[in-house]
Amino acid sequence: MRTELSFAPISGIASELLGVLAADTQAAKGPEAKPQPTLLTTDAAVEAAAAGVLASGEYKAGTNETVLIHAPAGLKAKRLLIVGLGKLAKVTVQSVREAAGTAVRFAKPRGIREVAFALPSSESLPQAVVPAAGVLPAGVARAAVEGALVGDFDADTYRTERKDQSVQTLIIGAADVERAATEAAVREGVIVGESQNFARSLVNEPGNKLTPTILGQRAALMAQEVGLGCEVHSSEMLHQLKMGAFWSVAQGSAEPPALIVLRYEPEGVNEGPVLGLVGKGITFDTGGISIKPSDNMEKMKYDMAGGAAMMGVMRAIALLKPRVRVIAVVCAAENMPSGTAQKPGDVQTAMSGKTIEIINTDAEGRLVLADGLTYARQLGATHLIDAATLTAAISVALGKTTAGVFSNDDTTYAKFEAALTVSGEKFWRLPLGEEYAELIKSDIGDIKNTGGRFGGASTAAEFLHTFAEDTPWLHLDIAGAAWVEESRPYIAKGPSGIAVRSIFEWVRSYLEPIRI
Ligand code: BES
Ligand code: MN
Ligand code: ZN
Repeated sequence: MRTELSFAPISGIASELLGVLAADTQAAKGPEAKPQPTLLTTDAAVEAAAAGVLASGEYKAGTNETVLIHAPAGLKAKRLLIVGLGKLAKVTVQSVREAAGTAVRFAKPRGIREVAFALPSSESLPQAVVPAAGVLPAGVARAAVEGALVGDFDADTYRTERKDQSVQTLIIGAADVERAATEAAVREGVIVGESQNFARSLVNEPGNKLTPTILGQRAALMAQEVGLGCEVHSSEMLHQLKMGAFWSVAQGSAEPPALIVLRYEPEGVNEGPVLGLVGKGITFDTGGISIKPSDNMEKMKYDMAGGAAMMGVMRAIALLKPRVRVIAVVCAAENMPSGTAQKPGDVQTAMSGKTIEIINTDAEGRLVLADGLTYARQLGATHLIDAATLTAAISVALGKTTAGVFSNDDTTYAKFEAALTVSGEKFWRLPLGEEYAELIKSDIGDIKNTGGRFGGASTAAEFLHTFAEDTPWLHLDIAGAAWVEESRPYIAKGPSGIAVRSIFEWVRSYLEPIRI
């Protein structure tokens, strides 16, 4: 998708389809209070073209509700698509992100390849979104671009009859905005949106097409394209580094593991934090000897979504060049049952020296991450963040749209929480602590890799805490939210790319305050 920015009045933008926002401005409640769909634009021609349908009562401007007007009078666009944001008082930057995605996903199946999207006028948005009167925050433009790009992604890449329905041109209509800031924001939106889609495209690949070795090659290729340092190691290096926990998962597969290291070291930055990004890269999780039931096992190709997210973040960082050092470590392996696979009861020695009793070979993510966290610290990380499709328990607790976050440091967590207001992603903090540490004490060694039925997401997080130790650390459990189960108006069914935007924003918070 090619993105352009137009400062012309939106009625003058020639395009196949022009998306314009509307919100329900009805403040009163109760059965008598009819929805009041109101356009978020000051363009008189667009208002005139939409007046009929808005007055009809057919269209309520509900969240992501659309109505199409063909050959709108007075507009250069061939079609006018009104996209609803729901109640005006509840509109956020995320609503605009979703609406832009909705416009693109409306266009795709209809063979429309060019979409213009009008940014809302600053006067029309609630105060929470526009803190300084009259100035549309750059975050709105960025979100619109991200939403459009995310909306453009579809998962059907292996259909032989596939007709690529991608939208080729996106025109952002920015009639009343601050130009330089909007240009920068659009550029950011393109990079972040494309990086999220890069992560999604990796997650979408099946296990036979994306082995740990191939994931390593994809990392190296990306690193070369955007200018990152990259090393990809395999079994020999795992042995050299004494990564007994990581290797214990890899040993059961005919596919060798990949220890992927990506480095972003901006010139002249020799002080300050070194952020360590650690990703779970299980390219397929059968469960190993503690094998999973076959129902839904095909989904376990997405067990590298945390690793892919880190690769996406590094791509965005390389292109947007924040002045902070960042290292990513992705631990890629396949979890297989075989004659060489580890067994329940085995005891493994992690890189840190801690011994782990294997209770369940299906709790493999925490094993590869244990050594990934130790390695990131050894490489000089002063702050850690990991992302992993770690536990089914996180979906039981939070459902499939909100992901879990755990931290041993409130300041580090506060930065992440602030980043969420920019990214629009949903995370909820869950507890760590001594009670959970109790549940993973082993009789034979230091710790065991499962903690029983209850509090599964927290015992898994507490296991990782043992390896992060006192380094400020965030753990993101994205097992539920990494896969979109049913397509939504603004995003396709399949890999969600969750965590890319939030981690990127968190990284950036180490050099500048979060802007909303
Ligand atoms: N990759 C899974 C977690 C998962 C489950 C991700 C469903 C996405 C969807 C992880 O390796 C796993 O198998 N976890 C086990 C841990 C248990 C054995 C303690 C789980 O959650 O059941
Ligand atoms: Mn597993
Ligand atoms: Zn797994």
